[in-house]
Amino acid sequence: MTEDILYDPNRDLKLVLKVSSNMCNIDCKYCFEKMKHIRDAFITEQQLENILKKIKNNVVITFHGGEPLLIGKSKMNALLNIVNLYKNKIKSVKIQTNGTLFDDEYAELFFKKYKDLNIEVAISLDGTYEMNKLRVDYKGNNTFDKVIDAYEILDKWGKKAGMLSVISKHSIKYVEDYADLIMQIKNLSFVKINPLFNIENNILTPDSISPMEFSQFIIKFGMIYIERKIYKKIAVEPILSMIQNINGKESKYCNYNKHKCFEFLSIYPNELIGPCDCFSINDFSIDKDTYFLEDNISKNILSNKIIPIKKLLDKCEECDIFEFCVGGCLSQRYYFRNNEALSKEFCDSKKMLFEFAKQLKI
Ligand SMILES: C[S@@+](CC[C@H](N)C(=O)[O-])C[C@H]1O[C@@H](n2cnc3c(N)ncnc32)[C@H](O)[C@@H]1O
Ligand code: SF4
Ligand code: SF4
Ligand code: SF4
Repeated sequence: MTEDILYDPNRDLKLVLKVSSNMCNIDCKYCFEKMKHIRDAFITEQQLENILKKIKNNVVITFHGGEPLLIGKSKMNALLNIVNLYKNKIKSVKIQTNGTLFDDEYAELFFKKYKDLNIEVAISLDGTYEMNKLRVDYKGNNTFDKVIDAYEILDKWGKKAGMLSVISKHSIKYVEDYADLIMQIKNLSFVKINPLFNIENNILTPDSISPMEFSQFIIKFGMIYIERKIYKKIAVEPILSMIQNINGKESKYCNYNKHKCFEFLSIYPNELIGPCDCFSINDFSIDKDTYFLEDNISKNILSNKIIPIKKLLDKCEECDIFEFCVGGCLSQRYYFRNNEALSKEFCDSKKMLFEFAKQLKI
């Protein structure tokens, strides 16, 4: 079972293209990309093509980084041109950006020149101006206003947008404000709320929240979400997955489903590849000794270096709430693994979410 959860070779691959490596134009205080030891470079057209031709299955592509828009319009055009050549196997194309470099020219490229690719844009914003205070530029200025401008440009082009939010310690008390903010952004259709669980010396950093605090945030938000019928306008993870799993429907979100980590392939410049980018590429790079990427992944998940990740899933086998929790995010648990109290709190926090979700049973 464990190997199937980490990787099923029959499914589409989700490529997370680190087009700008881990380089970025802003300086978010918590960013895990800064910890990765990789060379500064951009993915070249040739490297992208080499990767795409070595994939047997269909693919979902996300332009990522660092900051993907840092590569500039001409380079973006060249990479999209390669994607377009392989469009028979591309299921969808997404851009995950901090929004600060987004403008009408990028919009024209995404929605006019490459209209047929149906590109979707998701922008990172941690909530209100106050909640977003760790997302700053290199002068220490909050990026909030620029991000709101980016949503407005998308709206002007008639495009819906996604949002990725990281909830850190100082944001816990702003649940109501968070709900107000997401309702104010007219074209928002999808939101993913993630916790800040950064670990240093095996303990959570001062800006991080604890697993219990995160579940409390999600429960409070969940109550507002239902009371104010926000679900009619915006799909919010992990609430959506919790409702799906408690009602016996399969969630599509890796944290709550049985397809995790090695189905999300991070591609760095020079064709360096790894599992989901929440893991450090320095810990889990994938060896490429056969031609097709799918075969390389299948081989790699049998290697000894994956054993610590598999052990996490072994622990879930006896768990009463496995069908609801499905093991959670394995990178979070991996970085908690040397702190027994934190690992236990992670599972307790999932049990708390399970108790809440029971009320959402239809
Ligand atoms: C690494 S960024 C890359 C794409 C782009 N620069 C952006 O900010 O959307 C992708 C997402 O990872 C999130 N992220 C970065 N560091 C994180 C951390 N330590 N914990 C949780 N999420 C983090 C960011 O907030 C962002 O939503
Ligand atoms: S914008 Fe994205 S890549 Fe850049 S520092 Fe912030 S989270 Fe990291
Ligand atoms: S590390 Fe977490 S976010 Fe990444 S694929 Fe695995 S479960 Fe999903
Ligand atoms: S609660 Fe803990 S043991 Fe149970 S499925 Fe979730 S992560 Fe695994």
